[in-house]
Amino acid sequence: METFNFLSIRYNKEEKKLEILDQRKLPDIEEWLLVNDPSDMITYIKQLSVRGAPLIGVGASMSLYNHVLLNESKLTKEDITRISMELRESRPTAVNLMYSIDEMMQVKQAEDKRDLSAENLGRIAMSIIKNEVEMCRKMSEFGASLIQHGESILTHCNTGSVATVGAGTALGVIREAHKQGKNIHVYVDETRPLLQGGRLTTYELEREGIPYTLICDNMAATLMRSGKIQRVLVGADRICRNGDFANKIGTYGVSVLAHHHNVPFHAVAPMSTVDIKCETGEDIPIEERSSSEVQGASGAFGTVRWAPKNSKTFNPAFDVTPMNLVTSLILDIGIIDKNNLDKLK
Ligand code: MRU
Repeated sequence: METFNFLSIRYNKEEKKLEILDQRKLPDIEEWLLVNDPSDMITYIKQLSVRGAPLIGVGASMSLYNHVLLNESKLTKEDITRISMELRESRPTAVNLMYSIDEMMQVKQAEDKRDLSAENLGRIAMSIIKNEVEMCRKMSEFGASLIQHGESILTHCNTGSVATVGAGTALGVIREAHKQGKNIHVYVDETRPLLQGGRLTTYELEREGIPYTLICDNMAATLMRSGKIQRVLVGADRICRNGDFANKIGTYGVSVLAHHHNVPFHAVAPMSTVDIKCETGEDIPIEERSSSEVQGASGAFGTVRWAPKNSKTFNPAFDVTPMNLVTSLILDIGIIDKNNLDKLK
C-alpha cells in the first residue's frame, strides 16, 4: 500500500492514517475525518460523509485493510470476515461497494488467515484504487468524444472527484470536454433532498473554473423546452444486464424529460458499477432514508426543518432509469447502446 492524497480520501502509509473529506460540510468547510476503524467508516458511509458509488467501495476496502494492518496479531479470520460483511452492508444500492469488499475477501476460501494478511489486503486495495483512477480516465475520454463545441449539458447529483478517486464519471466527461476547449456550459440540478448538485458539483466546477448555472430540480423541464440543453450526463450506482440503471433519485424524471424533448441522455460509469447478476432494474435494492432529510435540510449552513415534525415522508435515495430512455451508457470499455448491450457481459 502506498501513500495517496485524493480530493475525497487520503492515506498516510508511515502513520497508517486513513482520512476522508467530510462531504456533509462542503462547500464551505473542508474538514477531514479520521477513520479509526471500520465502524467509523460504516458511520461515515451511512451519513454520506463518504458517498458516490466508486468512493464508498474504495473507502470500505481501505478501512478494512488499515484495520487489519493495525491489529494483525489480534484478528481471527472470522473477525475479518464479519467486519467485511458489515462494511459490505453499509449501503444497499451501489454495487461497487459489494464488488470492492468481495475482491478484498477473494482469498476467503483459502486455507488460513495468512491469506487475509495486511500485505495481501493492501495489495488488493491498491489495485482497486489504481483501476478506478484508470477507469475514470478512460470513460472521460470516451464521453468527451461525443460532446460538440458549445454544448450546454445538464447533470444531476455529484459524480466528480469527491465521488470517486479520479476525474469522476459524468463530471469526468465534463471536465475532459472543458479541458479540450469545447466551450461547454453546465446546468447543475441541485438534487434534493441532500443537495449533492447544489453543494458538491458546484464546489468542483468552481475549483475547475468550468462555467455553470445552478438550478432547482423542477427547472430542468423549462430549460429543455426552450432548447437550452443539448445533452444530459449522469452517473450510476448499479447497471443491470439489460442496461437499466439506478442513480440518484430524480434521474428517472430527467430521463423522461430528455426523451420527450429529444435530448441525448447518457449514464457514465466504470465497469465496477455493472451488476450482470441483476437482470433488470426491478432487481435493484433501493435504499430508503430518514424523514428528516425531506422535512428540511442540513449542511455547513446548519440544520433547518420546515415541515411539521411528524409529517409522513417518502425518501428513496435512488430511482431506476429504463434502458429504453437511454441514448447510451458511457463505460470505461466504450460506448454501449441498445444494439451492443451484450458487451456488458
Ligand atoms: O447517495 P449518493 O450521494 O452516494 O448518490 C450518488 C449518486 O447517485 C451518483 O450519481 C453515483 O454514485 C455515481 S458517482 C460517480
